[in-house]
Amino acid sequence: MKAVIIIPTYNEKGNIKKLVETLETDVFPEIKTWNMHILVVDDDSPDGTAKEVEELIKKYKNLHLLHNGEKAGLGAAYIKGMSLAVEKLTPDVLFEMDADGQHDPKKIPDFLKKIDEGNDLVIGTRYSQGGSIPENWPPIRKIYSIFGNLLVRTIFGRFAIHDWTGGYRAMRVSVFLKEKNEMGEFRGYTFQVSFLHKAARDGFKIAEVPFHFTDRTLGNSKIAPGEYIVDLLRYVITARFREVLHSSFPKFLIVGGFGFFINAFLYDQLVRNTHLPIALANVVAAQFAIFSNYNFNNVWTFKAHKANSVLAYFSKMLQFFATSNIGVILIQSGTIQIGDMLYGEQYYRIYFLIGTFFLLIWNFTVYSKVIWKKKTAF
Ligand code: GDD
Ligand code: MN
Repeated sequence: MKAVIIIPTYNEKGNIKKLVETLETDVFPEIKTWNMHILVVDDDSPDGTAKEVEELIKKYKNLHLLHNGEKAGLGAAYIKGMSLAVEKLTPDVLFEMDADGQHDPKKIPDFLKKIDEGNDLVIGTRYSQGGSIPENWPPIRKIYSIFGNLLVRTIFGRFAIHDWTGGYRAMRVSVFLKEKNEMGEFRGYTFQVSFLHKAARDGFKIAEVPFHFTDRTLGNSKIAPGEYIVDLLRYVITARFREVLHSSFPKFLIVGGFGFFINAFLYDQLVRNTHLPIALANVVAAQFAIFSNYNFNNVWTFKAHKANSVLAYFSKMLQFFATSNIGVILIQSGTIQIGDMLYGEQYYRIYFLIGTFFLLIWNFTVYSKVIWKKKTAF
């Protein structure tokens, strides 16, 4: 099996020499079952990084250099470098790594082990046990780094991945080939997050390797923090929004909206024309809405997982009535009851609206995660 470590460089003279020598003399000799190569992707670094690599190439036959032209961003360099590696070196696995020594090269065998175990994409992580960010970073930088990652995890709702922004990774070539065509617009550092997001979406097997992210000793970071944050947030929010729009949630809202009118209409009639306590009136009214919701959700919202036998139809309906009624009685009518006790019956419509909002969250969670559950890979 063959692996190529892609190292993008912009003004990394000194750093790249040190890293290549560590890899060649300390790391690669320890790796017995993989044939290791390095491809440096340099964007016309004015400091002579490419010259330094050319000198090293004379000594190391498994070292390669791509003169990538003008500086065009980290993502662009990776796409070009990986494409070239796949074409010319026919590897099984591609690595991403900083040139500046921030990514501990001694961890490479751990990444390869995870690949050997059957994973498709291995993420170096600074935010789970065994990983860290530099102690001496100023607090503001630590906060950006920690909260940035937490925010991405939360918006995507994919908590199993701890480090979304990092740039120390290994992947099977199949992962790169599947995602590369969608990556054209992410030329900068947002490449890392968008690539990982798409790979997770497509169900690739993902594993993590914790590592200590050390501070740079030479040269400067090329990140422009302001631009990066705006770019990153734009990607994360729009990508998540698109996901929700294409999920079952909008249909669930339409079906539930119809049920809401049935529920509200009957509730109103019962409160005004009978002597039922208002919380109980809502429980009665809700049964008709639940029946309507069940049928429309089954044939439309969650049709990919719908009940396909009479038995399944009734058993799902039973579950649906049971869980919906937990919501109606405890959450929706419960809110109405509390309102009634605190402020009296006259605001019955307001209690109903508040209770319905809480009910909606409960219902969608149970319907999609339990009743019409789908199997996901990650
Ligand atoms: N060819 C090329 N072109 N290389 C670039 C460019 C570019 O436009 N921009 C940056 N690089 C190279 C750098 O020379 C370095 O080897 C690597 O890409 C990472 O850049 P750094 O400047 O070292 O980034 P960092 O250490 O501040 O950022 C780290 O954290 C980011 C966010 O968590 C890296 O690990 C990033 O990969 C990560 O996205
Ligand atoms: Mn770096």
